[in-house]
Amino acid sequence: MKYIEILEMKMPVIGLGTWNLRGKECFEATISALEIGYRHIDTAEMYENESEIGDAITQSLVPRSEIFLTTKVWSNHLQYQDVIRSLESSLKKLKTDYVDLFLIHWPNPNIPLSDTFKAMSYLKNKGMLKFIGVSNFDKNLLLKAQQISSLPIMNVQVEYHPFLDQNSILSYCQKNNISLTAYCPLARGRELSNPALEKIANKYNKTVPQVMLRWLIQQKNVVAIPKAKSAEHQRINFEIFDFQLSPEEMNTIFQLNRGQRLVIG
Ligand SMILES: NC(=O)c1ccc[n+]([C@@H]2O[C@H](COP(=O)([O-])OP(=O)(O)OC[C@H]3O[C@@H](n4cnc5c(N)ncnc54)[C@H](OP(=O)(O)O)[C@@H]3O)[C@@H](O)[C@H]2O)c1
Repeated sequence: MKYIEILEMKMPVIGLGTWNLRGKECFEATISALEIGYRHIDTAEMYENESEIGDAITQSLVPRSEIFLTTKVWSNHLQYQDVIRSLESSLKKLKTDYVDLFLIHWPNPNIPLSDTFKAMSYLKNKGMLKFIGVSNFDKNLLLKAQQISSLPIMNVQVEYHPFLDQNSILSYCQKNNISLTAYCPLARGRELSNPALEKIANKYNKTVPQVMLRWLIQQKNVVAIPKAKSAEHQRINFEIFDFQLSPEEMNTIFQLNRGQRLVIG
């Protein structure tokens, strides 16, 4: 496994996305991912699966300290007391004392960011979170967040795949010691027979999802969180550390950008 190390934060470049995984399916998917070697799990209070993820982590043989666990506070819980209540509730369900990364899931223009970040600072002092970040923020809002927060913004989570360019915020993150987590890194499986990606995949005896993930993690500070319910897909998405895309192949994939956003807030 490769990690991105920024200050004290050590983040595995591949994590398990868990949106839409619920109940027994989520529990089993988390167990199998941990068995395969995943050490990074992405959830959110909104996914309604923290309880199953907590059960899986507790029952797996992997020590909690080896797992990088992210959760997110939903956009209607961004007032001071709500943020605290939200993380307390997440930790209870996750059956752990802390999360590694706590994100604002979506911005809410009706709640001052200063409220949210004050609560996050309180939670950091209590040891309930290690690092904070934001999701679905554009570059301007990220700059504003950095001005307001007393804690450093360590991570930005945004939709990122070959069909959606994120150059503006990514180059800012790369210059400012912020990791960028690519969500929907597989474009939700909608481009599995894209000819340009297939051609590159065939060359390395890999699959299209593996090429998409490799392209992401070969970029500085980029982490990807593919969601996969079966052990088979999870394994495929994890076997991306034994080949390398050339600069020309990286560019070919950059050129697939067509501004295609799959998640609209
Ligand atoms: N911050 C946010 O607002 C936000 C928004 C969206 C997503 N996210 C996070 O990002 C994660 C990933 O995004 P996503 O779930 O929307 O989409 P994704 O990871 O791009 O794609 C998931 C889809 O690809 C399929 N898949 C996975 N591996 C495959 C493989 N090797 N071959 C073929 N198909 C494969 C999955 O099916 P199977 O499950 O059947 O394998 C699923 O249908 C989420 O789960 C969530 O944790 C965050």
